[in-house]
Amino acid sequence: MRDATPGTVFLEDYQAPSYLINRTELHFELGEEDTILTSRLYLLRAVPDDVPLQLHGQELELLQLSVDNEPLDAAAYQVTDDYLLIHKLPEQCVLTCKTRIKPQDNSSLEGLYKSHSMFCTQCEAEGFRKITYYLDRPDVMSVFTVTIDADAGRYPVLLSNGNLLEATALDNNRHRVQWHDPFPKPSYLFALVAGDLQHIEDSFRTAGGRDVTLRIYVEPKDIGKCDYAMDALKRSMRWDEEVFGREYDLDIFNIVAVDDFNMGAMENKSLNIFNSSCVLAHPDITTDAGYQRIEAIVAHEYFHNWSGNRVTCRDWFQLSLKEGFTVFRDAEFSSDMGSRTVKRVEDVSMLRSAQFAEDAGPMAHPVRPESYIEINNFYTLTVYEKGAEVVRMIHTLLGAEKFRAGSDLYFSRHDGQAVTCEDFLLAMEDASGMDLGQFRRWYAQAGTPVLSVADSYDAEAQTYTLEVSQRCPATPGQAEKQPFVIPLAMGLLGDAGNLPVKLAGEEPDHDTDDNTHRVLIIDREQQQFVFEGVQEHPVPSLLRGFSAPVRLEYNYDRDALCQLMSRDGDGFVRWDSGQTLALQVISEVQAQLSRGEAAAVDPLLTGAFTRLLEDESLDPAMVAEMLALPGEGYLAEQAGEGAADVDLIHRARQRVKQAIGEAAEQVLLARYHGLASDEAYQPVGEQIARRALRNSCLDYLACANPAHLALASEQLASAGNMTDRLAALKTLAFHAEEADWTQPLADFYQDWRHETLVVNQWLQLQAAMPDAGALERVRGLMEHPDFDLRNPNKVRSLVGGFAGQNPVNFHRADGAGYRLLADVIAQLNSINPQIASRLLAPLTRWRFYVGRQELMRGELQRLAELPELSPDVYEVVTKSLQ
Ligand code: ARG
Ligand code: ZN
Repeated sequence: MRDATPGTVFLEDYQAPSYLINRTELHFELGEEDTILTSRLYLLRAVPDDVPLQLHGQELELLQLSVDNEPLDAAAYQVTDDYLLIHKLPEQCVLTCKTRIKPQDNSSLEGLYKSHSMFCTQCEAEGFRKITYYLDRPDVMSVFTVTIDADAGRYPVLLSNGNLLEATALDNNRHRVQWHDPFPKPSYLFALVAGDLQHIEDSFRTAGGRDVTLRIYVEPKDIGKCDYAMDALKRSMRWDEEVFGREYDLDIFNIVAVDDFNMGAMENKSLNIFNSSCVLAHPDITTDAGYQRIEAIVAHEYFHNWSGNRVTCRDWFQLSLKEGFTVFRDAEFSSDMGSRTVKRVEDVSMLRSAQFAEDAGPMAHPVRPESYIEINNFYTLTVYEKGAEVVRMIHTLLGAEKFRAGSDLYFSRHDGQAVTCEDFLLAMEDASGMDLGQFRRWYAQAGTPVLSVADSYDAEAQTYTLEVSQRCPATPGQAEKQPFVIPLAMGLLGDAGNLPVKLAGEEPDHDTDDNTHRVLIIDREQQQFVFEGVQEHPVPSLLRGFSAPVRLEYNYDRDALCQLMSRDGDGFVRWDSGQTLALQVISEVQAQLSRGEAAAVDPLLTGAFTRLLEDESLDPAMVAEMLALPGEGYLAEQAGEGAADVDLIHRARQRVKQAIGEAAEQVLLARYHGLASDEAYQPVGEQIARRALRNSCLDYLACANPAHLALASEQLASAGNMTDRLAALKTLAFHAEEADWTQPLADFYQDWRHETLVVNQWLQLQAAMPDAGALERVRGLMEHPDFDLRNPNKVRSLVGGFAGQNPVNFHRADGAGYRLLADVIAQLNSINPQIASRLLAPLTRWRFYVGRQELMRGELQRLAELPELSPDVYEVVTKSLQ
């Protein structure tokens, strides 16, 4: 049903553009007071009627307007807050437009703005309209030529997309460069950078023999932190050739690091702009997780050159066309660079804790949304991560070879075009012969489906039966759901290992080398699968590899979970069974605590975790993942609406952690010492795995016995890298009652205050500490000279860290945590609406929290009543209150 909220954009209203812009010439005159931009647009009407041209434009001062070099008189056009409307244009003409903008005052970090002394741009999704009047929509693609004039002393480096045509000196110590991008592109892929930057340079020879110059530009302070990203870039380029057959297409590829940036990074054609936190790395300042993130984001943005730039989106409802596909591609890349199972576990953990919550909340939307008020609110986990899961399911259904054929067909068929998710599906269907008709519901229906499984075993007939049913909860605007196509990867575990799985009536499949694994297709509300020749009562191993983004319901008993955990053939299921077991035990402890009883932690869990630690043949990275208990946010989400008691969840989870620490104390100590190493730091899989497990041992030891905090102090003093240093500091800080943490935190700040990315981690750590003083500390840190409300990384670290990673304090019973967040959002609403809106996410989960709903809604209500609410905040607040 369509609601009539003003400002809502609907997919069904899509209309092709009435004008094309074949060529775009931009001339920037960058100044300290303002920037003057002269644009020349080579327009061609695309419809028979003489319709007015409606150009987007916001916060622009129009200075001059002419058509084919003839100034337009005032009656021929109209300017509104959002548009420039021009009547009676010839079918083909050149529109020249001179405007003034003030990048120095642009705190939204959208359009052209300043970060420290450098100029930079962020245009996706609709930022280009803050630079000049334009058809700022992705289906208008144009060949850009960009001229930049600037002071030569302040801005020796002037960059834009494509190839450098010329550089010349001008009068008054100014200089000029001209860039030309031969590939037609939508305005959202335009970029400009000007600054006093240094760079590192490397080169890459493509499979086709093209030599590409690769450069990473940074502020001089950061020149020593570029090497890792450069290596990651070269690995990405090679991988995309080998796995997807995609080659780079220009002679130059640039990356620029910027300290003030709303998102992670942006794939502008040949000029990627990165949040410095997603590209700069050095062992002194970057953790292992940070390194892995950088590698993934460098790859992600590079992969967009094909999945996003060469083939782009017709409209923003199709965002997942490029983002879901590109996240899938970067996840495959990371899996190939490191451990596939570990990568899968990390991704699924995130999906289940954060995307499932989005799907269960007021902002739930399909992978391809049908309407929005502010498109920036739809750069979501659903569009990105669930979108990637949908592509992964296509990969599973088609198999690797046909999927690759579909991808090749998609790229060749649509090269240079702006297309839809439907076009992607059609290419996959045409290349594979597979019908994805019903599968399309994944793009149209919101919500997380629930897959419910029951089983029975007939010993006499040696048959084993699975009854599978699916349902999907209602989401805003979608009361009823049709059945999805759900690939259910599975196996059966017997006493001696995985059993052959053969469906009744089916010939044994000689084509597959693994007869213990198969993918069942669930496409109706209810289905039955009978397996024959099953000689013992098996334990079902379900949803292997997390083959679909669904909640699985199956009544596992704890013995079965222990068996799967230690012996199943699928690494993901081994991890997931441990998580389910932990979840069951934590809920049991919650129930005990809420009845005022002493907690009795099931020894099955502590025993299973102890055995994991004892088995040195296991991959330490996997053991570390398996030891990580489900997070408090996920536990709250699992509790369901109106049932999450944050304090109880926190206490129960801590109690279980302590019990595991106590039970495994000896082996934890042995592993902690055994995993120590004095090798020089390298961000490589084997070392990362070792550090992860060792630091997880430290964490459990501290929970078991405060005396072990001495280990953390020693580690903090002797650590040679940020991973070990921060883990030790966190261990001390998270045991604030028993540990001396104030001095170590102060020392840490003194040691690293010159590194802004480390200061961010320092802020985040203090924001997440569960001690009772957290809220006052966060308020205090907001006054710290190193905090800056205008810098998104600082806001995310301190305020986002508090609201997102400190449940007990954010959800304080007196509502002070909610008030703090809403106060910040109210301020950011006018400074930077995108960041303001993103910070709202924890408040939108109000339905889950028992005893807190009124307080949370109250803050949303307070925000709703603010004057001049940005569309970003307006949309999330109003939808959350519905
Ligand atoms: N396309 C970018 C990426 O995923 C994200 C840019 C999002 N920007 C925004 N303002 N919403 O790599
Ligand atoms: Zn992306």
